[in-house]
Amino acid sequence: MAPSLYSSPMIQSHTLTSLTLETPTQTAALGAHLWPLLQSGDCLLLSGPLGAGKTTFARGVIQAACGHETDVPSPSFSLLQTYDATPALWHFDLYRLEQPDEIWELGWEESFDAVRLIEWPQKATPLMPKDALLLSFGEPDAKTPTQRQLHFQISPVGGPQEQHWQSVLNILTNSRKPL
Ligand SMILES: Nc1ncnc2c1ncn2[C@@H]1O[C@H](COP(=O)(O)OP(=O)(O)O)[C@@H](O)[C@H]1O
Ligand SMILES: [Mg+2]
Repeated sequence: MAPSLYSSPMIQSHTLTSLTLETPTQTAALGAHLWPLLQSGDCLLLSGPLGAGKTTFARGVIQAACGHETDVPSPSFSLLQTYDATPALWHFDLYRLEQPDEIWELGWEESFDAVRLIEWPQKATPLMPKDALLLSFGEPDAKTPTQRQLHFQISPVGGPQEQHWQSVLNILTNSRKPL
């Protein structure tokens, strides 16, 4: 089992804010609300166990970018699905990656100017950008099956990207749009 992204000394993090997502629709809506705030080069690391809601969230982002009718398969076998949005949108699922270095074969270098959504980032922890926004989805709980806890975290690196993520989350939490 790969080491946890958060216990790795390479990516220390602190929590900026936490949310409770009551339904899959809310999780997708959160992604849809985030999309217009994202810029070329932004990277979202989507962490959490199987069934936590990572792909549901990614689907919300992608359909906001490309249209609600857009088919959004989970890239669990292909490892990568790219979308012709502005900026370009790349959706990775690294669960089946065997070695971190294999990520280069997916066109990793060409993805740097895109918005990247990356499920299972801990499969390639050393290669993950240190200025990414980490979305940590909690373990589903049988007592509240449609609820998910979500923590937004960043590496304590300071600098412009930290301000960018802070202002993105401020807009998101202050906009008070119903999710
Ligand atoms: N609040 C919620 N947010 C996201 N998904 C949820 C939620 N409640 C239940 N679900 C269900 O959990 C599953 C999440 O699947 P998926 O998004 O593919 O997870 P992952 O990509 O993390 O493995 C879906 O079947 C979804 O309908
Ligand atoms: Mg998934």
